Amino acid sequence: MKMPLDDIRVLDLTHVWFGPWCTMMMADMGAEVIRVEPPWGAIDRMAEGALFGGASYTFHHLNINKKDLTLNLKTPEGKKVFLELVKKSDIVVQNFSPGTMEKLGLEYEVLKEVKPDIIYAALSGFGQYGPYTSRRSFAAIAEAMSGHTRLTGERSDPDGPPIEMAQAYGDLGPGTMASMAILAALRHRDRTGVGQMIDVAQLDCMVAYNTAITGYLLSGMMPVDLRKKYPRGRGVGGLINTKDGGWIRLAAFGPRAMDRMVQHLGVELDDISKEMIEEMVSDLTREEAVKLFTGMGLPCAPVYHVDETVEDPHVIERDMFVELEHPKAGKIKLINFPVKFSETQPVLKTPAPLLGQHNKEILSELMGYDDEKIQDLMKKGVISYSAK
Ligand SMILES: CC(C)(COP(=O)(O)OP(=O)(O)OC[C@H]1O[C@@H](n2cnc3c(N)ncnc32)[C@H](O)[C@@H]1OP(=O)(O)O)[C@@H](O)C(=O)NCCC(=O)NCCS
Repeated sequence: MKMPLDDIRVLDLTHVWFGPWCTMMMADMGAEVIRVEPPWGAIDRMAEGALFGGASYTFHHLNINKKDLTLNLKTPEGKKVFLELVKKSDIVVQNFSPGTMEKLGLEYEVLKEVKPDIIYAALSGFGQYGPYTSRRSFAAIAEAMSGHTRLTGERSDPDGPPIEMAQAYGDLGPGTMASMAILAALRHRDRTGVGQMIDVAQLDCMVAYNTAITGYLLSGMMPVDLRKKYPRGRGVGGLINTKDGGWIRLAAFGPRAMDRMVQHLGVELDDISKEMIEEMVSDLTREEAVKLFTGMGLPCAPVYHVDETVEDPHVIERDMFVELEHPKAGKIKLINFPVKFSETQPVLKTPAPLLGQHNKEILSELMGYDDEKIQDLMKKGVISYSAK
């Protein structure tokens, strides 16, 4: 099957979550993504305590469908190999701290010299200019400064401490945005022959994701005060505890939801309140409560732990999990690309690569190096031996 990006090659100088998520989107849509790792391995291989076939579970999550080449970019030979690879590639993505590519002598201007239409995406915490540009960052840093951490806290207790978001959305959101921007740049290049540099900052993207900021800009009021002064129009919702100790999330907002409540519960509009629903649900199990509200046409869900998510028959029927054979971890179940295409469905073909797994394939088949040259690069420590 033809895939949207199967004639595109990406050089992936990324690590941790933000960059690897961005490049994995493209790998899933058919691009050949070559992760270029230092011969001693990138920090995210071992980021968690538990290792599965020698890599953290987050590494398995974020590097599906990629190839891996180890290359020491701090050596003149390593840089030379990299620039030769750039000539044969469409896109370079990196998420080092700003200034790192410049220190390596591999900044956009240098890459552009060898491949004039290259698309170069520089992902970072604060962007390539501005007073904080040199600061290092992780998702939680951008979440904190963009207001999300304070807002999450406010939602549970306006006077309490800030609360961190459960997952690294400060990586996954900006990573998706970076991927989208690269695809737009690719379309521009294909129409005009002109490449470009893309500067994606976690903080900029997380500011853009925060609708409460627009609420503040329009009203001059803090989100908590705005919510008090202008409560959401007719509707009830929130997290509600059930008889068996399980929780549901109800989101019965808007006039049509209210009509459905009046009709199905036989109550007056003015009697509908969160307290009334809580009282009603206290006699129902989680399953009964979800059945009742979804049966009335209201948005309602059980609040799951992850072990329940993976067992849910709907999630399973939507093909959200795929089993692949990993050379060291054996058969492993991974999360599938979530969007369904009618013509070009992304396919999970290979699990996260071992360190240097594709050294030989890339250097001999793509670059045309002979065995002697590859051995020489190994001896000099420019590339590592491929993990077996
Ligand atoms: C994630 C982060 C905090 C890690 O910080 P760090 O471990 O100090 O890493 P840096 O990016 O500053 O530097 C990477 C180093 O590895 C080196 N390196 C990376 N790939 C290499 C390769 N293939 N060969 C040789 N050296 C390599 C770089 O040259 C650099 O060396 P230097 O410190 O001597 O300049 C930082 O990269 C960062 O802020 N990135 C931008 C925001 C981001 O994406 N955060 C992660 C979100 S999940």
